[in-house]
Amino acid sequence: MSMNDDIKNILVSEEALKAKVAELGAQISRDYEGRNLVLVSILKGSVVFMADLMRAVTIPCSIDFMVVSSYGGSNTTTSGLVKIIKDLDSDLSGKDVLIVEDILDTGVTLSKLVPMLKMRNPNSVKKPSRRKADIQPDYEGFQVPDEFVVGYGLDYDEKYRNLPYVGVLKPEIYA
Ligand code: IMP
Ligand code: MG
Repeated sequence: MSMNDDIKNILVSEEALKAKVAELGAQISRDYEGRNLVLVSILKGSVVFMADLMRAVTIPCSIDFMVVSSYGGSNTTTSGLVKIIKDLDSDLSGKDVLIVEDILDTGVTLSKLVPMLKMRNPNSVKKPSRRKADIQPDYEGFQVPDEFVVGYGLDYDEKYRNLPYVGVLKPEIYA
């Protein structure tokens, strides 16, 4: 039994992810030169992307982690509520915050989180990538079709996060 057997098709290959992360890292390094960059990873989905992205950033930066949950939804959808399960360790005042997220689906999670972080007196807050909420990423990796995707940190029922690519899960797995 291989995890690969549960994947309908690969959407973003390991090579494509690697190239995109390098591009984003270079762009972020240019944009945040001389600033006070803190990369804020939203666990757990962004952990793989974060680990790659931080090494593609060539300017000094700090990192921090946050756990939020959107509860009330099922395993494949998000509800409208966002709760902080684990807050940041660091003070954001004077920092230039870049939120590192795995996937922006409805945008509800980020649209709730950005105003919460803005209240902490940071210098700036930006966020990376069917938006119910009117939210656009400042940096975008890839657009994916409206299908349930897993891998590269993204899960279904906590599984498949360790797949090195992003793929579409066979619908019969969650049906
Ligand atoms: P949003 O609030 O609708 O933007 O949902 C954001 C969160 O839902 C993401 O950070 C993911 O954890 C999860 N999510 C949304 N779509 C998918 C998907 O296709 N695969 C896996 N997780 C997803
Ligand atoms: Mg999830």
